[in-house]
Amino acid sequence: MPAIEPRDAVDNPGDETDQGTILRVYDQHAAAEYERLGRSLLHRVEFVLTAELLDEFVVPGAEVLDAGSGPGRYAEYLLGRGCRVGLTDLSADSLQLFEERIEPRLADRVLFCRQGTATDLGWLPSGSFDAVLLMGPLYHLVGHDERRTALQEARRVLRPGGVLVAAYISPYRPLMQAVEEGDQREVEHLRAGGTTVHLGMQQHRSWPREARAELDAAGFEILRTRSLQGLAALMDRDTIAAQDPETFFAMLRATCEVPDLLGATLHFVCVARRPPA
Ligand SMILES: C[S@@+](CC[C@H](N)C(=O)[O-])C[C@H]1O[C@@H](n2cnc3c(N)ncnc32)[C@H](O)[C@@H]1O
Repeated sequence: MPAIEPRDAVDNPGDETDQGTILRVYDQHAAAEYERLGRSLLHRVEFVLTAELLDEFVVPGAEVLDAGSGPGRYAEYLLGRGCRVGLTDLSADSLQLFEERIEPRLADRVLFCRQGTATDLGWLPSGSFDAVLLMGPLYHLVGHDERRTALQEARRVLRPGGVLVAAYISPYRPLMQAVEEGDQREVEHLRAGGTTVHLGMQQHRSWPREARAELDAAGFEILRTRSLQGLAALMDRDTIAAQDPETFFAMLRATCEVPDLLGATLHFVCVARRPPA
């Protein structure tokens, strides 16, 4: 496996998103981010419901770009299924954690591990991947033009017919919190598409309808939209902790693509395709 390659300058992106802050926060929280998807039943649901979509749309042997990989939990999963995966992320420490943890039997299938931004994939040739994961950048890039650039770059590096798995964060939870707290200004801010702040980083929130519109505008065909917490996003922690995992997962799986419930969640993913030539 190649060592992490140096990044192009991202400390000073000269754009709306403060990518330097994102880089520093994820460098600081790399280990916590690696643990995140196993932290609670709610987090495990997110991993399981995503992995199932990857099983469905990314065939063993596929060449995959994971842009915004973090410490590479999904990259690791795909490598284990026989895919060849290239990782890129703003956070060098997250990539280093991936390199330290990846099993030697999987390391040969790692195409590259390079620090960089999803808005500039110019170092990758066009039409070179069967699948691209954008599971982070689209909720961290707060500028419309930046998200459009990331989607255009993802589309460019995909082969015709290749699949994009794009993760978004819904405004649902902060909106509910603002209503609970009687914060009318925040309700208006979120209704107008305003950002939220998490660990000092601004986050862009999208409803599923908005996410699909931006994917459509970037030239993708949308194949599926899936809520990653489903109805569990409406439950309190104690209720979730009391559930039997297998039964709970089965019920969430059965309801996570009900169209009218898609936005009532924390995260959701859209699977989309670069149209065949
Ligand atoms: C919450 S983590 C998600 C990691 C992993 N993809 C997952 O879904 O579990 C978000 C990741 O996106 C990365 N990220 C955010 N904006 C990015 C950008 N413009 N280019 C590359 N990586 C970015 C962050 O550095 C962070 O590692």
